[in-house]
Amino acid sequence: MKVTIPYTPRKQQAFIHEQIEKFRYSLLCCHRRFGKTVMCINHLIKAAMTCQNYNPRFAYIAPTYGQAKKIAFDYLKYYTKDIPGTKYNETELRCDLVNGARIMLLSSENPDSIRGIYLDGCIIDETAQINPALINEVITPALSDRKGFMILVGTPKGMANLFYDYYQKAQADPKWFLYKAKASETGIVDKEELDAALAVMGSQKYEQEFECSFIGNIQGSIYGDVIASLDDKKQITRVPIDPAYPVNTAWDLGYNDQTAIIFFQQIGHNIHIVDYYENKNEAFPHYAQVLKEKDYIIEHNYGPHDLDQTEFGTGKTRRETAYQMGLRFRVVPRMAIEDGIHAVKMVLPRCFIDVDNCGPLVNALRHYHRKFSDKERVYKIKPVHDWSSHAADAMRTLATGLNEIKFNNKVRQTNVDTNYKVL
Ligand SMILES: Nc1ncnc2c1ncn2[C@@H]1O[C@H](COP(=O)(O)OP(=O)(O)OP(=O)(O)O)[C@@H](O)[C@H]1O
Ligand SMILES: [Mg+2]
Repeated sequence: MKVTIPYTPRKQQAFIHEQIEKFRYSLLCCHRRFGKTVMCINHLIKAAMTCQNYNPRFAYIAPTYGQAKKIAFDYLKYYTKDIPGTKYNETELRCDLVNGARIMLLSSENPDSIRGIYLDGCIIDETAQINPALINEVITPALSDRKGFMILVGTPKGMANLFYDYYQKAQADPKWFLYKAKASETGIVDKEELDAALAVMGSQKYEQEFECSFIGNIQGSIYGDVIASLDDKKQITRVPIDPAYPVNTAWDLGYNDQTAIIFFQQIGHNIHIVDYYENKNEAFPHYAQVLKEKDYIIEHNYGPHDLDQTEFGTGKTRRETAYQMGLRFRVVPRMAIEDGIHAVKMVLPRCFIDVDNCGPLVNALRHYHRKFSDKERVYKIKPVHDWSSHAADAMRTLATGLNEIKFNNKVRQTNVDTNYKVL
């Protein structure tokens, strides 16, 4: 039987259809009006029509029943209308094809109602708004019997959701196909429409909706642009340790607060950020133990200038206390926060960041931001102190430490004493 479906994929859609057939897992991060939902439905129709399994089952999952019914069901009915023998169930939002295959439109509002099903494949649309319990507790087990495929589709909506988590995973995992489509690159939505959207939405929201920026909704992000560009250049990926080079650490020390440690290797001109650790309310022995357990060959530990402050109780500097615990620090010079931020911006483009070990660091660097003062109508100079500050401060230690290495090498060449304080 030869059936023609009234769908001619756009070139980007055609490319995606071809690629996702080769992978069990895919993540498609595409701008608004890309044609995601139409593409998903058509992909399921083809998969359902060609599946050789007994009674194959496929699911399209939207965040709410309303979304599934209002948009996807109309597409499903339209694109299957020429397939003879197709039956529709309007209340259950499903269609049964003549070969015994069934396509169900489900919503993530009530994961319990879809427990116990099996699936040969499923597509999750608008993944950023999906209830996380659905994927882990319902979809993954449903796909396991038949090794079904899972395709996550969506437009970014910040970082605190499943779409961002899986986006990070897909960046580094060769089992995943990852595709990102920005409106400025696809040309699908014409310029007039994009200009109108920008005028209505403002640039932050526009960046999110049309340029697929995960930080689009963080106003005043300091490193957001640089991280987005690392992302585009695939520099946030899997970065294995190169055993030929030592590992260095860069710290932000919190005494009653968070401590952050970045582990990096300097390989030629590039900085490989291979690992990251943060914890709070722990003392030096804990971090000394963490470093020991990591089992890296550590060359230098770079610490912030406050290591040289004297502690009340002991009369010793923190650096001396650390030294007794086996942690030998090089203290990077004190620098105005602005200069430190500038140093980080200069260093970041040379960084390759391991996505598996350094997820919290990347999140923090995207989030670190300045607050907008409505009264003065400018961004405050001092960044907001929140959960992201510690990672960002450790990054400042790294960047100033690197500047010092450069300086140090230069002065060494000219035989002048360095200003490093090494115990
Ligand atoms: N291959 C195609 N050929 C012609 N029109 C298409 C094609 N794919 C999508 N469209 C049209 O483009 C519009 C947007 O499609 P769709 O709803 O699938 O986009 P979307 O990316 O899901 O959008 P949103 O971000 O709003 O959810 C619709 O009018 C749809 O009919
Ligand atoms: Mg859609």
